[in-house]
Amino acid sequence: MTRKRLVVANWKMYLESADGAKEYARALKRKMKGLTGVEVAIAAPAPFISEVAAILESTPVRIGAQTVSGYTGAHTGEMSAAMARSVGADFAIIGHSERRALLRQGYEGQAFEPKINEQVHRELVQAASAGLMPVLCVGELAHSEDGAHVAFVAEQLRSALVGAQSLAGKLVVAYEPVWAIGKTASDAMKPAEVREMVIFIRKTLADILDRKLALKVPVLYGGSVEPDNARGLIEEGDVAGFLVGHASADVATFFEIVSQCKK
Ligand code: 13P
Repeated sequence: MTRKRLVVANWKMYLESADGAKEYARALKRKMKGLTGVEVAIAAPAPFISEVAAILESTPVRIGAQTVSGYTGAHTGEMSAAMARSVGADFAIIGHSERRALLRQGYEGQAFEPKINEQVHRELVQAASAGLMPVLCVGELAHSEDGAHVAFVAEQLRSALVGAQSLAGKLVVAYEPVWAIGKTASDAMKPAEVREMVIFIRKTLADILDRKLALKVPVLYGGSVEPDNARGLIEEGDVAGFLVGHASADVATFFEIVSQCKK
């Protein structure tokens, strides 16, 4: 694959002030000078998208939202995909496990999963229709010896993409096993396991989408990516890039990971 790797910073709520976000963006802008061979993106909290996008406008860094509403119209407190786009976002994380967990709160067992998947589908359709590149997150809550986690991920992919196959041209998938999120490099998924899941995700995508389109969908990995494990994961894990959480909160640490992903 000649396509550049994509490294996305998911700031979550780590940067709590607009000043901090702007400072980060200015530092990243300086570091971007002369960087080639890798694509960099920031998924910013809604209030910071506009200013961060303005600072990074003259750079190739892509700015996105961490989620968008599955609806338009009268929904207090939500941010529509069109609104995100109008302030400078060009992609959106869809179905992040921390958003899925909010929906799951108070529900026991698996029964509620179809409802969550339906909501994720709505958000994906809204994002893609507004011209945002959806970064669709999938990942099991826990690893299971009987392979139930694999079926869980397949269903997340299927239900998100049902009827939305034509939108797949811009799609990115991020595989983020929930059990590996927010730990340290030594607790992250091992490259060989990542590789196996990536093969499975590609196969599942090929069943759902047009085969040629499926081959073009970049599959990222997320879950405790740090400078210490980035190179192993990118090379042996055979992923097209990363979705980085806590290690993206510090610009120097994030840039170390970015640098390791250059081709
Ligand atoms: P961590 O890198 O903190 O594990 O978070 C991963 C993640 O959720 C990125 O979206």
